[in-house]
Amino acid sequence: MKTWFITGISRGLGKALAEAALARGDTVIGTVRDAAPAMDAGAGALHVLTLDVADPGAVRQAVTEAFGITGRIDVLVNNAGYGLLGAIEEADDAAVDQLMAVNLLAPFRIIRAALPAMRAQGAGHILNITSIAGRAPMAGSGLYAAAKGAVEMMSEALAQEVAPFGLKVTAIAPGAFRTDFLSDHSIRRSRQTDAYADSVGAALNYLDEMAGRQKGDPAKAAQAILTLVDAPEPPLHLLLGSDALRRARVKIDALIEEIDRWEDLTRSTDFEESLG
Ligand SMILES: NC(=O)c1ccc[n+]([C@@H]2O[C@H](COP(=O)([O-])OP(=O)(O)OC[C@H]3O[C@@H](n4cnc5c(N)ncnc54)[C@H](OP(=O)(O)O)[C@@H]3O)[C@@H](O)[C@H]2O)c1
Repeated sequence: MKTWFITGISRGLGKALAEAALARGDTVIGTVRDAAPAMDAGAGALHVLTLDVADPGAVRQAVTEAFGITGRIDVLVNNAGYGLLGAIEEADDAAVDQLMAVNLLAPFRIIRAALPAMRAQGAGHILNITSIAGRAPMAGSGLYAAAKGAVEMMSEALAQEVAPFGLKVTAIAPGAFRTDFLSDHSIRRSRQTDAYADSVGAALNYLDEMAGRQKGDPAKAAQAILTLVDAPEPPLHLLLGSDALRRARVKIDALIEEIDRWEDLTRSTDFEESLG
């Protein structure tokens, strides 16, 4: 039986994951910004903390409280997050500051606050919910992709840093899942001008049409995450959803093709003595 700390269990993927962990008898410390969600603790134990992850002081306090309640965190899940849609040129500073505070700085601060106790445990798993956007960005969500891509990179470095302490790290990149993510309740939009109608406008129309019809089932994502944390050797990266798989493969193939095509120029910058 595991003890989980999950940010953003009010709805969506975080709620589905909390419910799945509780159903099998695990203990969940989940964070919400407002009222606790209606959730049956089932065979498990549920503790709800109030936390706006953009507040650094509140993050420190919540992590301390969590260890005070259960004494340990086996699985730390940075799940709370939201998207910002629009062209990069059209995003304003305040919106980008808040986006980065929630999607990038909060996971960093939560991990930093939890690591001393997790290192002392000598075991544990950090899951960062990123996005396929962070690996294969599309027009119209570049700053969200930047935040999620940064968390992917942070996860890779972190995995190397904490492995000697018996800690594991997985960056989980979902494709489109049927949550509130694309609804006006969650998503934020920059002002739109006609200049980007063909690129950003088209991408956003595609997302608007997808809302409510996403392929991904949050309950199945939760079960996949349980499988992941139970694996003796979990992956550093996990894609969730066939759409994420397709986008990742297209991206990797294009990247390899481009590296190969420009290989001579890439190699041309070494000092003479190391050429050959
Ligand atoms: N669904 C998708 O298609 C998809 C795809 C790729 C990645 N993701 C990622 O998956 C994660 C979960 O998203 P979701 O699909 O479950 O979306 P969701 O249904 O909109 O839920 C988002 C969750 O994040 C919380 N949250 C947002 N801002 C917060 C803040 N400042 N402080 C604390 N909590 C905050 C929300 O709490 P409130 O109820 O208080 O707003 C809610 O619990 C996010 O990191 C998202 O980027 C989702």
